[in-house]
Amino acid sequence: TAEYFEEGAFTGKHVVITAGPTQEAIDPVRYISNHSSGKMGYALAQAAADQGAQVTLISGPTNLPCPDRVERIQVKSAEQMLEASLQRISETDVFIASAAVADYRPSEIAEHKIKKVDGEDQMIIKLVKNPDIVATVAQHPERPFTVGFAAETQDVAQYAQAKLARKNLDMIVANDVSNTKIGFNSDNNAATVFWGSGQRELELMSKAQMASEILNCIKTQLKD
Ligand code: CTP
Ligand code: CA
Repeated sequence: TAEYFEEGAFTGKHVVITAGPTQEAIDPVRYISNHSSGKMGYALAQAAADQGAQVTLISGPTNLPCPDRVERIQVKSAEQMLEASLQRISETDVFIASAAVADYRPSEIAEHKIKKVDGEDQMIIKLVKNPDIVATVAQHPERPFTVGFAAETQDVAQYAQAKLARKNLDMIVANDVSNTKIGFNSDNNAATVFWGSGQRELELMSKAQMASEILNCIKTQLKD
């Protein structure tokens, strides 16, 4: 059967996108996570598919439906997200890390539900650092064009450019998360995109619009 695919700027490209939060188990009924909605990553997946890309969306737990013509792989932890990302790396042309990965996870997962202890008013959970997914992808010998996000509350440009260099990224999308108009769950976003030799301001716009602007920036860089 013949299928109709629109000829787009990303036709023939495999775009892999991480999205949403990760959940790091403490015991069988509890976890550490964050308020990421996944909306930006899902908007990127939709926009890339609309522009003809083959899209794999590696998603932490969200309430969002899978966009049309997108392959979604659902994961929980950062370690699972890393494994799914590396599994496809040799066939990935563009990797976009929009997930809000938990920086730390409990050092061990209790086998059974942790019980309160009489007389102990404090408990300590030991955390260990998670692997840095986007940095691991960017240092791989078969590295794709690699794009990260940076969530900052101060000195946004400085911190974002430091992350661009430290993680060996091709591009970074810097969000000022102190801006109350555009929180994690918002349908809108504002950002500055940085790459080795330039930057572009993306004023307040919908996440759908921002997704296609980010893809435009990537497209331009891929050509150079
Ligand atoms: N990231 C990742 N794996 C991690 C942590 C972050 O892939 N374990 C990615 C995010 O998806 C994002 C970029 O790294 O694309 C920056 O995430 P951010 O939380 O802003 O930076 P961190 O390096 O974690 O530094 P910090 O939170 O201390 O600012
Ligand atoms: Ca972080």
